[in-house]
Amino acid sequence: MANQQPLDINNVQGDILEGLGKKTELFFFFRIKAGQGLHFREHLRSIIPLITTTTEAKKFHQTIKEGKKEAANEGRHFPLIENSGVNISFSQKGLVALGITDDIGDKVFKDGMLADAANLGDNLTEWDSDFKKDIHGVFDITANSMVVLDRTLDHIKRIFRSGHKDATIEEVTQLRGQVRPGAESGHEHFGFNDGLSQPAVENVDAGVISEPGEAPVRQGVILLGRKGDDGLVFPPGTPPQHVTRPSWALDGSFLAFRYLKQLVPEFDTFLQENALKGIPPAPGNPTGADLLGARLVGRWKSGAPIDLTPLRDNPAFAKRQDFRFDPNNQERCPFAAHIRKTNPRSDLDGRGGTEIRRIIRRGIAFGPEVTEKEKRERRSSPDEKLERGLLFACYQSNLGNGFHFMQQSWANNRTFPPKTTTVPPVPAPGIDPIIGVATDNLPRQMVGASPDISGANTELDFSARWVISRGGEYFFTPSIPALKNTFAAPCHPGQHGRPEL
Ligand code: HEM
Repeated sequence: MANQQPLDINNVQGDILEGLGKKTELFFFFRIKAGQGLHFREHLRSIIPLITTTTEAKKFHQTIKEGKKEAANEGRHFPLIENSGVNISFSQKGLVALGITDDIGDKVFKDGMLADAANLGDNLTEWDSDFKKDIHGVFDITANSMVVLDRTLDHIKRIFRSGHKDATIEEVTQLRGQVRPGAESGHEHFGFNDGLSQPAVENVDAGVISEPGEAPVRQGVILLGRKGDDGLVFPPGTPPQHVTRPSWALDGSFLAFRYLKQLVPEFDTFLQENALKGIPPAPGNPTGADLLGARLVGRWKSGAPIDLTPLRDNPAFAKRQDFRFDPNNQERCPFAAHIRKTNPRSDLDGRGGTEIRRIIRRGIAFGPEVTEKEKRERRSSPDEKLERGLLFACYQSNLGNGFHFMQQSWANNRTFPPKTTTVPPVPAPGIDPIIGVATDNLPRQMVGASPDISGANTELDFSARWVISRGGEYFFTPSIPALKNTFAAPCHPGQHGRPEL
């Protein structure tokens, strides 16, 4: 049964519904020291006041927005405001270490990402060994600079007595990301504007989305225990099964974290070598490589959707969400383009729609810019210090409906979106060229990224991958009341038989 009380966003951790303000971000993965569950709870109580709520995150963004507007009116530069945000999430192993034994009702979460790696198409030999170890939780720390970030991290470590005999956590690993410099700010390493299309959440984001977009999703698509968190449609094609959540799960969300390496010089070289032909050289026209890149992603580097502006970029359209794909046609946007694979919009009209598949993304770029040497050699350096990519994070109330499904059943699936009615019939759409993995050992390919813009249905092979999974984990991000009353409560393991929602 969904909770009937109105949602109070003071109760929800800030990264889920708003996103923590950030120029830099640190994911600090930890393990609760063996036998220290109870003492960990004590330390956790001291951390709770540091946790950034959705209300606080919204307030911060509002302050920035108003400050920038005021500065622009007065013709002055708006300085960076010192800030830092903190959220905390736990893996299933973390719940067990805390003695929280209630079944949270999500098989994908309970099994963990290592067990799911083959389903996602990951090659475990490419995983960083730290993600094969037990991880109990993660601190998501954001700040306006690395100095402020480190200060917050030190504060947290001191509370958990890290490095001392009586420490209750130990570090497994940490990953740092930062917004890319200058004009690339907000763009991921392939150069595309990122973090644009997010589902608006009913009664949370109303009135905030700047462009007319898709219908808002019910709160329960993102938050456990709310309306919309009521059916588990997994495995695909089976009737919805009822999900039972423990009461402490209310207003929490599942976080899928992915450590994704990007091979940027290789991606750029591919675009150049397969540049689309037939574009007349005229002011404002893209290069053939730009057009191919846009057709692989479904948006131009500015963010403008190719469905709205198929043949040339228009930065004024960057944030637009008001487009619906023509289900029988991929001339404007290939069926397999990354944004069409991961949010097929009208392709699923009459097939259950997309609402339960929506996720809220909170990624950040990591690693340095491509070096001149890498550009010259058209190859990523083998030096690990030069590794770059995306620290991908997304929230949903059900991993089997959200991230896990999106990667396995959409991105890696050559026959999605289903195109049985297309006239004339076209070959299967192919694999998501950005994140899709060929789990059938056939070459990666897609249709509609034609080397000739008039032949939108021609096939393009791309055996190489440009995004490599280096690991990740599934976490649960509890509400603030759950942190206080369940996760940090001074009770003994095994005392968590809570009433169901
Ligand atoms: C390095 C890996 C990735 C890169 C470079 C990348 C890049 C992008 C870009 C440029 C966009 C368009 C801008 C936007 O709407 O934010 C986008 C959208 C999106 N991506 Fe990714 N992405 C990556 C990984 C993933 C993964 C792992 C997933 C989930 C399995 C995913 C799901 C989505 C979704 C749901 C959208 C929004 C689609 C829409 O509503 O139009 N992405 N991505």
